Amino acid sequence: MEIGNWKQAIQPEPVPRVLITETAIRRRVRQLARDIKRSCSRRTPVVLGLMNGALFFLADLLRELPPVFEVRCAAIASYKGTKSTGKITGLENIAGDFKGRDVLIVDDILDTGRTLAAVRARLLRLGAKRVDVCVLLVKKKTRRRAVRVRWAGFEIDDEFVVGYGLDYDGLHRGLKDIRIL
Ligand code: IMP
Ligand code: MG
Repeated sequence: MEIGNWKQAIQPEPVPRVLITETAIRRRVRQLARDIKRSCSRRTPVVLGLMNGALFFLADLLRELPPVFEVRCAAIASYKGTKSTGKITGLENIAGDFKGRDVLIVDDILDTGRTLAAVRARLLRLGAKRVDVCVLLVKKKTRRRAVRVRWAGFEIDDEFVVGYGLDYDGLHRGLKDIRIL
């Protein structure tokens, strides 16, 4: 591959504008971990990270939590480009023993709420006793599905964002800050 093509592939134009800096994310993730630790001191939940969006958020959050948190991941998708398709794929990736367990879902962003509502329902069907949600970002706009989020990092306007795990059709995930596309 030519160098020129390669550069284009990793940084498609136009370069998105920074919404939340790396420093602000780091600080907020630390606070969230502190809050989670405090309220999970009696029963340790299974942490379920939704891939690929929660990739970096999950990794950073985990490193701020004690090593007693059991971690599982499931690949879930619903987006094509900047729009929700309304169809959640990958729910069957959430399998295994959740009977009687407290589960903490970790995801990148709450938008329409369909993903988290479907994942939560699936976990309860698999016998989870309690399901809490921790998301890095919450979009302010009206939701199609009501979802209770126990821990949220930042509330943002209804804009499509990328970086720190969030992608636009697979691109921009590796950005260290969160940017508006
Ligand atoms: P929901 O089901 O509409 O709440 O969408 C949740 C999922 O869509 C998230 O887990 C993300 O993977 C993806 N998503 C929603 N909004 C954005 C965005 O602004 N940027 C990147 N991904 C998004
Ligand atoms: Mg996602």
